[in-house]
Amino acid sequence: MFISALAILAGCTSKPTTTANYDVVPRPQSIEIQDPGTKGFVLKPSTKITYAQGDSVLRRNAELLAEYVKQMVGLDLEITDKPLKNNAIALSATLQNDNPEAYELTVTSKLITIDGASAAGNFYGIQTLRKSMPVQQDCLVEFPSVVIADQPRFAYRGTHFDTARHFFPADSIKEYIDILALHNVNRFHWHLTDDQGWHIEIKSRPELVEKGAVRKGTMVGTDFGSNDSIPHGGYYTHEQVRDIVKYAADRHITIIPEIDMPGHMQGALCAYPELGCTGGPYEVWMRWGISKDVLCAGNDSTYAFIEDVLGELADLFPSELIHIGGDECPKARWQECPKCQAKIKELGLKTDENGTAEQKLQSHFMKYASDYLATKGRRIIGWDEILEGGAAPGATIMSWRGTKGAMAAAKSGHDAILTPAQYCYFDYVQADPTDEQLLSYATMLPIETVYSFEPIDTTLTAEEAKHILGAQANLWCEYIPTLSYAEYKLLPRLAAMSEVQWCEPNNKDFDQFMTRMRHMAEIYDAAGYNYAKFAFNQQDAQ
Ligand code: ACM
Ligand code: ZN
Repeated sequence: MFISALAILAGCTSKPTTTANYDVVPRPQSIEIQDPGTKGFVLKPSTKITYAQGDSVLRRNAELLAEYVKQMVGLDLEITDKPLKNNAIALSATLQNDNPEAYELTVTSKLITIDGASAAGNFYGIQTLRKSMPVQQDCLVEFPSVVIADQPRFAYRGTHFDTARHFFPADSIKEYIDILALHNVNRFHWHLTDDQGWHIEIKSRPELVEKGAVRKGTMVGTDFGSNDSIPHGGYYTHEQVRDIVKYAADRHITIIPEIDMPGHMQGALCAYPELGCTGGPYEVWMRWGISKDVLCAGNDSTYAFIEDVLGELADLFPSELIHIGGDECPKARWQECPKCQAKIKELGLKTDENGTAEQKLQSHFMKYASDYLATKGRRIIGWDEILEGGAAPGATIMSWRGTKGAMAAAKSGHDAILTPAQYCYFDYVQADPTDEQLLSYATMLPIETVYSFEPIDTTLTAEEAKHILGAQANLWCEYIPTLSYAEYKLLPRLAAMSEVQWCEPNNKDFDQFMTRMRHMAEIYDAAGYNYAKFAFNQQDAQ
């Protein structure tokens, strides 16, 4: 007994000590290291994680912190709801702050305390603590005494994933969500359906996945006439969706599902050809691009269909905001369709300076969907095309064709989210196109450009600027067939986006960011994430 205690003691003292570094990504707003003479907190195998008794959400935070500690430094920390005055990391959510995602992280020799203005705020304090640790097993970690006061600049910090052009299994979605959590992202925009496949089970419309989830082949490279004849697809069941929604919620991430309508709908038309203007037949598209075949907006059955789909979507996803697309809806079929033209007549829609009659028919369609979702207590997001012909009242605009849509939205009292392609489309190449093994859109989007993005245009008044909810990175997956390649496209650019989303402009500096990114790269390595390493080499070469 005595001997083994001594052996443990000797083992402990012989371990090297490493110091935690609070210069993490995204950079906290204020880091006040206390007098360097004061002793910091030493993390030991006996350190416990405590949380406020009875708070199941903080308990979940504590479990995640324990996982992160294990991953970073290899310690298995015990979790308890008993308050401790010593040798503990104490989690609470009592901080008084108008920003619900604010937190304070305080380190003394006795305790690390993380107090959030909510459990979400607490979680961001956990992320900062996690990222401050070395990736080093078998060492003693000393956390210098500090007071960190931090809060995000934007309430909407999004990342999108297109699982329609390529389908990714449920486990991959969870790994993707883990990556978002590491970057303090709080919205996951999930693009579930498109011309190239319908990937979510809708129980009242079973044919959607029976006939629309798998395509017979995929074009090869950029050859639009080719086809690899390899069936591709799959779908998420209700059970899987509920599990993923919970997984994201545990990480304080809200999932915003997108069913893109009335265009990008060929996946659905295969199952319900009668909902197209020509009646089909249709097949799940095997090539990239935008199909001319869209939902017929003159057919009452179409409106019943979107009610069925959106009703189930609202049951599955608790998010107040539901994305209903609205982008890139060609009007050629509507111009020739007797039903669509009759609807235009019935509604008295006319082409004028506010848009064509067909754009106004789309506006009518989107308003119908918006009104239906309002009966379920939800509001819509649409791509900036929904401004054409008039956006539904209360609609949030996602501005992708530059920033003009967001500015117009904010000026007309609509909320807006910025995803302008030139800063936010991570399917674009990161730097040297020869580095990208798979061809993608050849536009360049290096990490420095992502970092330079400023979501609030100086022409907005302070009042209008309040409508800018935040920014989002988008990952369209025509040329991204694997999770590993998706990670390569995301990382490290998502880290740059995380500082756009989290940091005030006066707390941003690209060179300094890249220095802090060295440790983030170690975290990526520890987690086994694929990332664009050359982004770091380029920095070295400068
Ligand atoms: C989009 O990129 N079509 C929103
Ligand atoms: Zn029609």
